[in-house]
Amino acid sequence: MKTNVMSINKGELDKNVLKKAGKILKEGGLVAFPTETVYGLGANALDVDAVENIYKAKGRPSDNPLIVHIAKFKDLMPLVEDIPEKAVILMEKFWPGPLTIIFKKSALVPEIISGGLDTVAIRMPSHPIALALIEEANTPIAAPSANTSGKPSPTLAKHVIADLKGKVEMIIDGGDTGFGLESTVVDVSGENPMILRPGAITAEDLEELFGDVDLDPALKYGENIEKPISPGQKYKHYSPKAEVMIFESESLEVLAAGINEKYDQLVEAGKKVGIMSTEETKEFYENRFNLVVGNREEPLTIAANLFKKLREFDDLKVDVILAEVLDDEGINLATMNRLRKSAAGVITKL
Ligand code: TXA
Ligand code: MG
Repeated sequence: MKTNVMSINKGELDKNVLKKAGKILKEGGLVAFPTETVYGLGANALDVDAVENIYKAKGRPSDNPLIVHIAKFKDLMPLVEDIPEKAVILMEKFWPGPLTIIFKKSALVPEIISGGLDTVAIRMPSHPIALALIEEANTPIAAPSANTSGKPSPTLAKHVIADLKGKVEMIIDGGDTGFGLESTVVDVSGENPMILRPGAITAEDLEELFGDVDLDPALKYGENIEKPISPGQKYKHYSPKAEVMIFESESLEVLAAGINEKYDQLVEAGKKVGIMSTEETKEFYENRFNLVVGNREEPLTIAANLFKKLREFDDLKVDVILAEVLDDEGINLATMNRLRKSAAGVITKL
């Protein structure tokens, strides 16, 4: 299939490109587009064949349900059985924005969207290109992250091109996505809201509104035994080709010394090794190959760069990536969730 790559400036939306993309979606095709979190791979959520093609293009397991994206509040009602009070509070505060809410699904939502569950995940993105495209298509849009299943999610159009060129009708290049990790997924069916996937809207943000907020026990650090509620959380995920090893210590000096020791062992064994450093630790890795992922004092910089750096290491043909643990506060909970998954949960304590 020929993939049409077209650029749009998010400050000055090109109606012609949006019209073309909207027409592809209406006719059952696939369009990758930027959101404020990561790039999404969109299809008409009500068209079963189109949605099937999303799973094919990504190589995604069919029991992993998709998020349905809407552009207007009135588009929600037809998709859901009811709108719980907590969901109203969340939507008023965070929509449009990087928050996905789980609802009881209506009969309109095809089985294939919900992977056999009786619920549906819905979000209203805030990115101007995403919103304009959904409006142009005039239908709810199913959109997983626009990567090959298992790979780090795309934050630049070139990542989408690397994974999906030849498999989708159109890729809209709208530049860098911004936040850089996927939306927070929250279930409001219980007494307290429960975070199923941490993201840009933090546990602390939700606690401000509701007091108590639960975290899916399967997400808690070191507790990999539980079966996650959100199916997407159970797969090894976000993984570059390189093996990822994560290290933890109370002290940055000890952390860096341990990473350097491992680095030297691996190099000795003939591996190409890369360290994912931070502004605060890079000086410890002088003379060893490292890429700075961001600044520990500004956790958003690390969130925005994590997937980019994992892909950059792959482009540089690194065999093993050595990465540092952050804490689990605020945005770091989401960053560490993705990083841990890229290493299949294994962390070395120093
Ligand atoms: O930021 C985002 O959410 C991006 C952009 C493109 O909007 N999309 C995204 O979609 O990350 P995807 O398919 O890569 O991740 C969807 C997550 C998966 O972990 C999936 O299991 C979960 O949402 N999910 C979807 N429907 C669900 C449901 N009914 N119940 C529980 N979890 C659900
Ligand atoms: Mg994904």
